[in-house]
Amino acid sequence: MIISIKTQACAAQEILPLLPVQIKPAYPSLPAHQHESFRLPPLAVGTQLRTDPKGPAVFIVVGQILLPSTGNPPHAPLCPLLKAQKAIEDSTSQNFSLVKEGLSLAWITLSDKGALGQRKDTAGPLIAEILGSALPLCHSQGFLLPDDAFELRSALTYLSLTERYDIICTSGGTGLTERDITPETTERLLDRSLPGFTQAMMAKSLEKTPNAILSRACAGIIGQTLVLNLPGSAKAVRENLEAILPALDHTLKKMHNDPSDCGG
Ligand code: MTE
Repeated sequence: MIISIKTQACAAQEILPLLPVQIKPAYPSLPAHQHESFRLPPLAVGTQLRTDPKGPAVFIVVGQILLPSTGNPPHAPLCPLLKAQKAIEDSTSQNFSLVKEGLSLAWITLSDKGALGQRKDTAGPLIAEILGSALPLCHSQGFLLPDDAFELRSALTYLSLTERYDIICTSGGTGLTERDITPETTERLLDRSLPGFTQAMMAKSLEKTPNAILSRACAGIIGQTLVLNLPGSAKAVRENLEAILPALDHTLKKMHNDPSDCGG
């Protein structure tokens, strides 16, 4: 898809909304008033905007926001947030190809102490490092939440169904204390569960420690997003990811409806 946008001057790495009124489909035959009313479908996080379809990204979609309501009756538009990959000098109209290559990863660390700034999150960045070395990630973003079911539910729903991340890994809250709510909160949101993932992680983990038996982690799919619960320690994150890494690429291909036959 090609869109025409009036870009504004901005610095490299600056984040700016892609305002609906700026978007026009690049079909010159359409009269101007139809250009103005054109609205983009929600863009998956990681989508690149390129002036040359085979060239580097000028912007990358890093999220979505709701803009203040306009019109009568008021309708709040959902608007992609773009991160500039280079400085833009001045405001011009340009055509951009929308390209989604690679996979997007969100990690959510559940930790009351972490959310209060009393503990450094080492597990979350490790998830990005391990998955980034095994998969072609085009965008990754971490989130740090307290062990709170409401916050986790809204984050999982928003990141999967609105921002359309390919993979979400949670870390922590899979154990037995009262505040551990990750698995039951995740499970209620799953469209499909993937028990094979949790079985593989448990089998591998039990080779490392008998305490792995405490983990109640679940795994599955929300919309088009693969969701995996991992324990909270960096050591446990590494051991659990090692168990499922070999099957991850194939899993994601099948989730994206790869029609090829499975060879084993
Ligand atoms: N799995 C592996 N591979 N390695 C570990 O060290 N720790 C266990 C378990 N799973 C562990 C593991 C322990 S001690 C606990 S309490 C549970 O994960 C739950 O951890 P969480 O509450 O941080 O999610």
